[in-house]
Amino acid sequence: MTTKSAAYTRAAISLHWVIALLIFAAFPLGVYMHNLLLSPYKLRLFNYHKWIGMTVLALAIIRVVWRIVYRPPALPATMARWERSAAFAMHILLYVLIFVAPMTGWLMSSATGFQTVLFGVIPIPDLVGKDKELGQFLLELHRNLDYLLIALVGVHIAAALKHHFLAHDDILRQMIPFLRKSGM
Ligand code: HEM
Repeated sequence: MTTKSAAYTRAAISLHWVIALLIFAAFPLGVYMHNLLLSPYKLRLFNYHKWIGMTVLALAIIRVVWRIVYRPPALPATMARWERSAAFAMHILLYVLIFVAPMTGWLMSSATGFQTVLFGVIPIPDLVGKDKELGQFLLELHRNLDYLLIALVGVHIAAALKHHFLAHDDILRQMIPFLRKSGM
C-alpha cells in the first residue's frame, strides 16, 4: 500500500541528510585510508570506514522501505516528460547504489578475511569465506561503485540547485524546510 504525501515527512528528510553526510564521510575516508601504509592507524580508519558504511547500508534499507510505503511529493507540473523520466531513473540508481556499494564493502571485508565488528562490539556475519581472488575483484567493484555513486550524487546536487536557482520550483525547499521558512 502506498500513501500519497504532500510533503516529505520529518523522518524522510532526516534519513536523506544523514545518509548524505555519511557518504560524504565514507568516500574521502576510503580514498585516504586506501593509500596509507599498513599501520595500526590505517586499521583503525578501516574500522571507522566500515562502521560508517554499514550504517549507510542499514539506513538505506529503512529508506527503501519508507519509499515503498510513502509516495514522495509530486514533481512540479512545469517539468518536461524527459526530465521526470531522468529524475525517476536517477533516484532508482541512487537507491540501488546506496545499497550495493556498502554491500560490496562488506563482502570484500569477508573475502579478505577481516570480519566487520560494528562499533567494535557487534560482529557482522561474513557472507563469503576467505578468498584472495574474490577479495581483489570485490575491491575493484567496491571502488568503481563508490566512484559511480559519488558522481551521481554530484549530478543529483547539480539538478537540485538548477531546480532552486533556475527553475525556481519547490524541489529543494521540500528537502530543506529551513529554505521554506526563511522564504529563500
Ligand atoms: C556508502 C558506503 C561506502 C562508501 C562511499 C565507500 C567508499 C570507499 C572508497 C572510496 C574506498 C577507496 C577505494 C580505493 O581507492 O581503492 C573504500 C575502500 C574500502 N572500503 Fe568502503 N565505502 C563504503 C562502505 C563500505 C563498507 C560497508 C565496508 C565494509 C563493511 C567498506 C570497506 C572498505 C574497505 C575495507 C576498503 C579498503 C580496501 C583497501 O584499501 O584494501 N566500505 N571505500
